[in-house]
Order: sequence, then C-alpha cells, then structure tokens
Amino acid sequence: MNKITGAVYLLVLMITYAEPSVGRETVLSPDGQIRFSVWSEKGAPRFRVEFRGQEVVGDSPLGLVFRDAPALDKGLALVSTKRSSRDEQWEQPWGERRLVRDHHNELLVEFAAEKNDPRAFNLRVRVFDDGLGFRYELPLGAGETRAITRELTGFQLDTQGVAWWVPAAEWNRYEYTYENTLVGQVGRAHTPFTVRLLDGTHLAIHEAALVDYSGMYLQQGRWGMMLARLAPGSDGVAVRKQGAFHTPWRTIQVADSATGLVMSDLVINLNEPNKLGDVSWVEPGKYIGIWWGMHIGKYTWGSGPRHGATTKRTLAYMDFAAEHGFDGVLVEGWNTGWDGDWLANGSVFSFTRPYPDFDIEAIAAHGRKRGVRLIGHHETSGHLGNYEAQLEDAFALYGRLGVSQVKTGYVADAGELVRLDEQGMARREWHYGQYAVNHFIRVLETAAKHRIAINSHEPVKDTGLRRTYPNWLTREGARGQEYNAWATPPNAVNHMTTLVFTRMLAGPMDFTPGIVDLMPHGPEAESRVPTTLARQLAAYVVLYSPVHMAADLPENYQQRPGAFEFIKQVPTDWEQSLALAGSVGSYAVIARQERGGERWFLGATGNHVEQRLDLKLDFLEPGRDYRLQWWGDAEDAHWRERPYAMTVAEKTVRAGDPLQLFLAAGGGYAAILTPITINQ
Ligand code: NOJ
Ligand code: CA
Repeated sequence: MNKITGAVYLLVLMITYAEPSVGRETVLSPDGQIRFSVWSEKGAPRFRVEFRGQEVVGDSPLGLVFRDAPALDKGLALVSTKRSSRDEQWEQPWGERRLVRDHHNELLVEFAAEKNDPRAFNLRVRVFDDGLGFRYELPLGAGETRAITRELTGFQLDTQGVAWWVPAAEWNRYEYTYENTLVGQVGRAHTPFTVRLLDGTHLAIHEAALVDYSGMYLQQGRWGMMLARLAPGSDGVAVRKQGAFHTPWRTIQVADSATGLVMSDLVINLNEPNKLGDVSWVEPGKYIGIWWGMHIGKYTWGSGPRHGATTKRTLAYMDFAAEHGFDGVLVEGWNTGWDGDWLANGSVFSFTRPYPDFDIEAIAAHGRKRGVRLIGHHETSGHLGNYEAQLEDAFALYGRLGVSQVKTGYVADAGELVRLDEQGMARREWHYGQYAVNHFIRVLETAAKHRIAINSHEPVKDTGLRRTYPNWLTREGARGQEYNAWATPPNAVNHMTTLVFTRMLAGPMDFTPGIVDLMPHGPEAESRVPTTLARQLAAYVVLYSPVHMAADLPENYQQRPGAFEFIKQVPTDWEQSLALAGSVGSYAVIARQERGGERWFLGATGNHVEQRLDLKLDFLEPGRDYRLQWWGDAEDAHWRERPYAMTVAEKTVRAGDPLQLFLAAGGGYAAILTPITINQ
C-alpha cells in the first residue's frame, strides 16, 4: 500500500467510523450547510436535520396509517438508495423574480418490510441551500387503493424556539391574528410555521405541491414534537388514493436570518413546471373595485338603494381606472343571490344572471373600449355543489365577455364547505381537505380553458402551485385589509410585518392595500386601519402579489394625490426581489426591481414602536446616479394619533450610499429609485 492510498483508506475508515449506526443515509445541500439524515430505528423510519453542524430538527418519525391496509410505521428496513443532483435555472412568467435557480441534491431511499410482508415506500428527499423537502412515494398497483387516516411525520423542535403561527382546525380557516409563543406553547398550527431557534437559525415548516391530497397542519405532541395532521374528509378518511401515488412535499426552509426565509424559492422549486403552455394571457396588474364601499357599509352587495354594483358606478370606476393607469375594475355583488343573509345562502347564487341594474354586456364593452378589464367575481358562500354545477357556464360567460381575471370566494366556516355526493346528499368538507384541494384545481383548469386567471379568497393555503398553474395569480388565505373595515379589534399593528415572514413564504397574497382614508368610521371607532399612510404604500412592495388592488374609493384617492402617486407608479411584476433587513413581526425592508425596467422600489414596514433602520444601497448599479423619491413617516407620525403625517421628498443617491429609514409606530416607508445617467 503506498502512502497516498493508505491515507485515503484511513480517511474512508474514519468516515465509516464517524457514522456508527449502519444504514443511516445522509444527503447534504449543495453548499454543504444542511444535512438530512434518514434511517430505520428498530424498524421505525426516522429523519433529522442539521444546519452548520447543529441539530435543527431532532430525530423525528415518518410513516402513514391506512384504514384499508397495514400501517407504514414499524418493521421497516432501509433497503436501497439512489442519488442524483440538479442545477438549472427556470423562468417565471410573472413573479417576484424572473429567474429561479433549482440547485439541489436528491436522495431516494426505499423502506421495505420483511419477506412475505409487502409493505414498502420510498422517501424522496431534495436538499437545497435554502432548505429541503421530502415526500412519500407509494408504488401501488393500478387497481390498489389506500384510505389514509393519518400521517406519522413529526418535526422535533426545541421547545424554547420562538414560533409565529395561526391556529389550525378552528372555525376561521386561516384568518387569525398571529400568535407569537415558544414552540412548547403551540397547540394546532397552520403552515407556513415559522420558528426562530435559540442560535438565531430560522425555520419554516410548510408543504409544496398540494394536489389530490389533504392539507397538512401541525399539532403539538410531546416536548416540541410537531406532528403532521391531515384534515379529514366528510367520511372520516383524510385522503383516498388509487394506484401509485406520492404525497405533497413536506418542506423545511432553513436560514441563518429572517430575511433568508423571505429569499427562499424552495416551495416553487418543488412544484412541477407549467402545465398550461402559453400563458401570455395571464397578466399581472393593478386594479380598483366596487369593494371597500361594501366592507365599510357605504354600499351593499345585495340589491336596493345602496346597491354597489350598478352600471353607472361601474362605468365611472372604469373611466377613473383608465385615467389613472389601472388595468382592471373588480365588481362584487353583480349577480343575483346576495339578497338576505348571503353568508348562509350559497345555494342560491347564480353565476350567470346579473342584477337588473348591472348591464354586464355594456360594461364589458365599455371596458374593452377604455382598455380596462372587468374583473369578475364568484362568491360561493362555501356551496361547492351550487358552484360546480354552474362552473362551465360561469366561465364561458366571462370568457365570451373578455373577462380575464376572476376573484372567487368561499366564505363559510372551516369544515363547512358543502359538496353534493353522488346521491345529491350534502357533505361537509374542510377548506384544506382533499375534496376542496381538488375543487380549487378544477376551477383553475376550467378557467384556463377560457383564458381566465384566478384570485381565490378563503382558499386552501398556497403551496407553490402557481408554477404548475400560472393562472393561479394570487389568493387571500390570511387576515387581509377587510378586517380593518369591520373587525373589532382590527388587524394587529404589526400584522403586515409578521405576514412577510409567515403567510408570504407560501406565495402571493391579495391583501388589498392602499387605504388612504384610514378611519372610515371616524376617529372614535375601533375598526380602523392600524397603520400610517406611508405603510399603506409600502405594502405594495413589502407584500408580493402579481395583482394588487388600490382598495380605497376613487373619491378618497382624489383627496390624497401625493399618496396616490406612489400607488399609480408601483409595478406588480419584478425582475428581482431582495429582502434587505428584517426581524419577524418587528420590521421588514424589501427592495424589488421592476420587470422590463431599471427602477427599484423599496418598501419597509415596522411594528408598534418607532424604529430607525440603517441600510446600504449596495444593490444599485455602481457608478450611476439614482433619483430617490420617498414617501415616509414624518417624525411626529403615529398610526393612532397622526397617521397621515408623511414626508414626500427626493434626493440623488449612488450605489453603496447609506440610507437611514425612519418608521413611526405602526409606520412604513415607500420609495422609488430611478437611474438618472451613466457616469463615466
Ligand atoms: C370575503 C373576501 O375576502 C372579500 O374580499 C369579499 O369582498 C367578500 N368575501 C365577499 O365575497
Ligand atoms: Ca376573506
């Protein structure tokens, strides 16, 4: 044995020695910082995750339980592995960045039982520099079925970690104010579930590519073991499958800072590429609408003297939109079925019959003439049966009229969606159960046939399906602006800032920013917008959505031309996006460069105390002057006492210049950076 071979031999021996538990397989992220290990612990499948040598998810279980077959929980050995890697770039038709890098190492492990026991499954793991995903793959025969009652996946976290979360399996879907507790104090939580560990590492547990399956939430087991839970179907079975299948990806984003989570593309990277082909008809943009007026009680959805959706008002809104450069006008309450208690009347909505004072043909024609799209609306009040029976006709009508975006709504308590079974019997389903998950995709596919894009409210959570179905433009799926119109209390002062590091990790949100009359019910009312005016502008940059609403009434924008100017200028489609600074729930600063242009837009949002943030403009192109125009909180601004105190100013800056931002209590900051010249 020569010297070199000897040394290599010794090294191999050392590595083998360092991995005493035989059969433990590991896969590293391309940069070597994240390590995923998987093994069989006395027959029970297990995994763990380390980041920079420290355990971030401790030894955790894997497995599935069925009603119609033995569980995949014990008596299983890790019998084979396969490895591969990928490094490629793909382009988003629209998005927070045009180019996305998919760079990962993959490990496929096979678990199997003893001879004469046919139980087996594969676990496919992909580890990226920004986190990892794994999914179960079951190699069943074509006629074989499985009724999944439970998933055994757990995520062992440090009970002392700090978590931000909204409750799951409660009545209000995902629309809760955020809890901020120790991991050990979490009950049942939706994902994305964001955690800061004691050493500052940030994690977010979520899922990717939720298709034909039930949504996963987390429930505290013993001592920080967050257990996967699947919403049950109306027959008590969570998921029904036939033939070979795989689960959605269980994802863990891992970063050394809160901003690292925001920069992650993990969830979209784990989704399948675009299935729809040419999607040039899916267009980002900004819209106004006959909407806020109903939420503040000025108009009604139903018919009567205050009916919002009249022909006259819609035409006037379209003219206003055309004059100020908006692409669309959303009109709610245009169709019959809203009269009486619309929340309880899902079975009577018609999606093709307008109210008599809404001349849909004339309105659509006026929109086409003015270059402003009519944005359609389908509120189902959770009656899937009524909606599904009309789906084809509803989209055919809009397709014929040239309506290219439709907002849908599913206002019903969680677990109370009504579907009709084969016998026409009403069955109650969860918004995140398998039936609803499939319903949302059926709507997308029907809409796509008519070249229509969807913005779903009261949806299932986002799991990155916009990559596969680029006509799923945006959605709600958290408390949006509407709560500031009528809820007591309204959203928390730091709600938007928490959203950046939680809900927004899943994908775009139709938050409906841009309220400029912050106290629609007067200064004494509890329901009001708990932000400064500057934060309403910042929201357009801070919260990503390819379609954003200018949510206030046209007459209110006329009162605030300075603020309106920013809303008119801010784009909704981006070449690149950077999270410059942030701390969950405290502050977030985001910079985005417009797609097809050179300008940068900056948005910052704070919490309930004043803050000064020191930044560096090092993302600008060196050697160039930029005009910085900003809309920032005045020194004496405060969301409650002086929310309109805003400084609008400009100056010249260059790459690398320092920039200090002031955020008032409840405050924000919005800015535009426009290149002036190239300096030699
Ligand atoms: C709830 C939605 O979030 C809101 O935007 C809409 O106006 C109402 N439902 C009525 O459909
Ligand atoms: Ca809602």
